[in-house]
Amino acid sequence: MPASQFRAARRAEQHPTFSSSITTPPSSSTFSLSFNLPDSRPSSPGSSIFSSESSDDTMSTSSSKPELLHASTEDIAERDYFSENPAPPALDKHTQLATDFIEFHADAGRRVALVTSGGTTVPLERQTVRFIDNFSAGTRGATSAEYFLESGYAVIFLHRQFSLLPYSRHYSHATDCFLDFLHEGPNGSVVANEEYRVKMLMVLRKYNSAKSKNLLLTLPFTTINDYLFVLRAIAQLMRPLGPNALLYLAAAVSDFFVPPERMVEHKIQSTNAADRQDTTEGALKKADKEASKETEDDEETFDNFDSSPAVPRSKRLIVDLDPVPKFLKNLVDGWAPEGMIVSFKLETDPEILVHKAQYSLTRYQHHLVIGNLLSTRKWEVVFVAPGQADQWIRVPRHRRKKTISGIENMVGVAASGGEVGEKPLDPKDLLEGEPELEIESLIIPAVETLHTAHIKKAKTRS
Ligand code: PMT
Repeated sequence: MPASQFRAARRAEQHPTFSSSITTPPSSSTFSLSFNLPDSRPSSPGSSIFSSESSDDTMSTSSSKPELLHASTEDIAERDYFSENPAPPALDKHTQLATDFIEFHADAGRRVALVTSGGTTVPLERQTVRFIDNFSAGTRGATSAEYFLESGYAVIFLHRQFSLLPYSRHYSHATDCFLDFLHEGPNGSVVANEEYRVKMLMVLRKYNSAKSKNLLLTLPFTTINDYLFVLRAIAQLMRPLGPNALLYLAAAVSDFFVPPERMVEHKIQSTNAADRQDTTEGALKKADKEASKETEDDEETFDNFDSSPAVPRSKRLIVDLDPVPKFLKNLVDGWAPEGMIVSFKLETDPEILVHKAQYSLTRYQHHLVIGNLLSTRKWEVVFVAPGQADQWIRVPRHRRKKTISGIENMVGVAASGGEVGEKPLDPKDLLEGEPELEIESLIIPAVETLHTAHIKKAKTRS
């Protein structure tokens, strides 16, 4: 698509600008740790979804929210979320970078993959000292991005800041400190240790090639809110790519967050020392007396999670979280309706993995769910796609041990994953460490095949 047409299509597809409204945070520093679990739809105290006026197709809304005609529950959740939460400061900058990148590759008729990677943080304060996080290191996303580049895709790598990055990941992992790969050479030069030199050179060449051909755009996010705003913006920008767009959502996205109206401005205090403005002896004695009375009361009345709490309520940090709206439906139907959408499903219980992946596919009606278990995710995944049998992809038995040198020249040699008829892996049977063959070298070609079929189907339709 020519650049001018691309720009026109983009302008036409831009959504209304939402204004953000932040209410004054509550003055209390007492939090309650509980999850406000969603039922079938997202909830938020005060959300218009549940107000009487929301039952009509035509929404009558407060002035800060754009009016929605014939709104679905997902449209309303989207409108509410993006009008009630502040846009991240870097949004415009990231949007501009993504616009230029997509335009460049749309002109070349190239496939573009948006790869999301890493965890998202959930801040507990606006000036954030404390936050909730998750385990994801970004290995899946960073490794997949490299194999997409190898397959000829341009890649937008939307990643959690400081998580692993394509190419540099080989040397930034905690167990692979880059300094251990180097030594000092003649005249103060820095030289790669001989046993690592070939691999380092290969990685460096691939990295430089991706950079010089403008094939890799890396955009960072930190919080769940940053992630959602940038994901929506980029997915919408990708619409003019049509079926050539691939959205590969490997990020481990928080399911719960503190909404702005309940978020305090300053660091949550662990004592009430900061409240004591009057430091005269009399005032301090009075405050101590009140505090101990408060503690007694708390211990008497506190019966929430634990009938005999080890510490009184006044000393606990109890955080009250709302569910993050699920925006996959919005992504599939509205943000990037022609692109191929691949989501992931992570579980820890093997008994429910496939069922949960199938449920997700049915619910969101997209193109592929890749299921993985926390303990075996580097050795096997399952592809759940409409109209085809579930397909396990496994690192073959003889490639499950990592070589000591970690030399990569054998990676990707295996044509298919796993031995036929093999049962799901038992984590107990796996050796410690990582497999010699990166499972993403098997996942990405399989995704590419499905994407090719997706593009073909779209061309036949049009
Ligand atoms: O980074 P690693 O350590 O290598 O780990 C990789 C991984 C295990 C994190 C990855 O392979 C994986 O499984 N990621 C998805 C985790 C998950 O189960 O996400 P979910 O059930 O919360 O979400 C389902 C899908 O929707 C995911 O693709 C997620 O990226 C996407 N999502 C979810 C919620 C939301 N608000 N926006 C989203 O895009």
